[in-house]
Formats: sequence, structure tokens, C-alpha cells
Amino acid sequence: MEYKTDYSLKTLNTFGVAASAARYVHFDTADEITEFIDRNPLRARHLVLGGGSNLLFVGDFDGTILHPAFKGIDVMGEDGGHVRVKAMAGEAWDDLVAFSVANGWGGIENLSLIPGSVGACAVQNIGAYGVEVESVVERVDAITLDDGKPARFSTRDCGFGYRFSNFKGPWAGRFIITAVVIKLSRQPQFVTSYPGVVAAMENGTPVNLKTLRRAIISIRQSKLPDPAVIGNAGSFFKNPVINGEILNGLLKVYPDMPYYAKGVDHFKLPAGWLIEHSGQKGRRVGRAAVHDRQALVLVNTGGATGQEIFELAEEVKDAVFDRFNIELEREVLVIR
Ligand code: EPU
Repeated sequence: MEYKTDYSLKTLNTFGVAASAARYVHFDTADEITEFIDRNPLRARHLVLGGGSNLLFVGDFDGTILHPAFKGIDVMGEDGGHVRVKAMAGEAWDDLVAFSVANGWGGIENLSLIPGSVGACAVQNIGAYGVEVESVVERVDAITLDDGKPARFSTRDCGFGYRFSNFKGPWAGRFIITAVVIKLSRQPQFVTSYPGVVAAMENGTPVNLKTLRRAIISIRQSKLPDPAVIGNAGSFFKNPVINGEILNGLLKVYPDMPYYAKGVDHFKLPAGWLIEHSGQKGRRVGRAAVHDRQALVLVNTGGATGQEIFELAEEVKDAVFDRFNIELEREVLVIR
């Protein structure tokens, strides 16, 4: 365990903005968390920081940052066509995907190259190219922050939704996730329905775990900026869901607008399209910009402050509202 005060968070958030934490604690084991809470009951403001890939620090953080850094990927057991794998919270998500694909176990290959940690995958219910992590999560292990006691949650307990779980909603701030157990398949059913996935397969290659992972990686690399090169936190907003009446009104004016059916009388609109068609692609506030290949991503072009990125996001949101009468909801967690 390491305990720091006035600690720089610049390299711990993928936007790469400068911010500091009043207190920062790095945990090498789950037991250290319990010991820490026993000795220092968490009365002050606190925040669990995984890979820092889905948050924006708008200023310094005056509380305690808890960073679970423990690693480990273990096979817990196998039954019939399935394998259960337990991954510790501090593992990089994509290392778990690479491990699963290398072993020939399917279920998360479409989630290749998503930045962030294993712990955060369940908070956010990460999703991409037709798959959400909830489809493989079997159990989430955590520690209750107000008493240091262990807690276990089934998939059902987690209350997963689109980029949502109870950890992000009603339970925010109550738990620190220590490990996630996922159930993978030895006979994977490949999901290749998302537009562009089949086209990204190398000519003539059969669909298997490795070729699908490669295709997903190449799509992501062609659209999404690498946070190691240009600061960003992936999609800044969620794709809004509207009803059929609103959809039909919009289609009369914008017949080419893409949309996806999502249950009865619900339709998802790509926020990136709405942002681009509000004339916001390339918009800047100071050193923050709307990404030129995927308007849903805001980037730090170098030295941007959290405040600049925040202001840009507000301007983008206002422009979409003025043009389409649709209120975008942030996906990224703003910390001030
Ligand atoms: N589009 C535009 N202009 C843009 C961006 C997109 O017209 O600037 C259009 C595209 O042409 C396409 C549609 O919008 O018709 C959808 O775009 P894309 O396939 O890139 O996906 P998305 O809906 O913008 C979502 C997720 C991504 C995920 C991809 C693939 C959300 C908020 N975002 O983006 O997730 O990788 O689908 O499944 O749901 C993330 O959460 O950080 C993230 C990157």
C-alpha cells in the first residue's frame, strides 16, 4: 500500500488533464483495503479510480482517491462448454480479453482494446460492437467502503443497463470492486452484426476469435484516438434513446439520420451523428476539441484543462439541443 498527499493525477486520467488529489491510496491487495478502512473510516469524500478512462477532473480533488492495483487472472473452473475466469480489479481490461482469446474462450472478443481496468468494466457495463460485458459477468466481488466488509453480487444484483449498473447509480461511492468473475464459452457464438465488422475482416479470413479481435482492434484504431497519444475518455456522451413519435418527426427533416431499434417504441440515435450534424466536428475551446473522426469523442490536443473540456462538452450539448431538441447525457463522470 502507498499513501500520498497532494498527489498528481495527470498520468492517472486518460484525458491527461492536470489535477491533484488531497489524498491518494494505492492498494496492492484487497486485504490492504480492509486494513485501511479499519484504521481510517472513510468519512471524507472519496473516489475509486481504476484506469481513469471514463472520468474528467475539472479541478483538484479534495478527498481521498482509492486505487485498486491488484492483479491476477485465474481459471476457477470449467463445466461443459464454459470456463469461469476470475480477474482482479487492477488488471487492464484488454489484457483479460487477450488472455481469453489466446485460450480460445469466447464472449469478450468484441470488447477488445477498450481502455480501463477490470474493476471498472462492471461499473460502466462496457459495451462495443454488439456486446456488453453484462452478458458474461457472473459475479462481482467488492468491499463495502463504510465497514471494510466483503460483498458479493450476482449479475442480477448489479442492475446492468446501457453504460449503467447499480455501482454507477444508486450504490455510487459505497463499494470498491476487487474482482470480477466472467463465464466464457469454448464454442463461441461470434457477434458480427455491427455495421463495419465484417468489412474489417481481412479478405477471406474465417471468423474466429483471433480474426474477430483483430478486426475490432482495426475499427477502433481507425476511428478512436489512442489515449496514450491524444488525451480522451472515449464516448463523452451516451447515445440518446427516443420514442417512435420523436423519431418520425426527426426523419421527416433528416431522412438519412441513422437509428437503431431498442425494444418496443424505443430507438437509439448515434450521438456522434447528432454532434456532427450540429456542425460541431472540430469545434474547440482552448486546447480541447471535438475529435475529427468521431464527434462523440472530445480530445485534449495538448495541455487542455479539465475546465476547457467541460466547457466544450456544454457547448456541444447546447448545439445538439438547439438543432435537434435532444438533451445529450454524459457518459463520462465529471469530478469537481
Ligand atoms: N457517426 C457520424 N459522425 C460521427 C460519429 C458517428 O455520423 O462523428 C455515425 C456513424 O457513421 C454511424 C453511427 O454514427 O452511423 C454510429 O457510430 P459508431 O459506430 O462509431 O458508434 P457510436 O454509436 O458512435 C458506440 C459506443 C462506443 C462503441 C461503438 C461501437 C456509446 C456512447 N458509444 O459509439 O463506445 O465503441 O458504439 O459499438 O454507446 C465508449 O463507450 O467510450 C465507446 C467508444
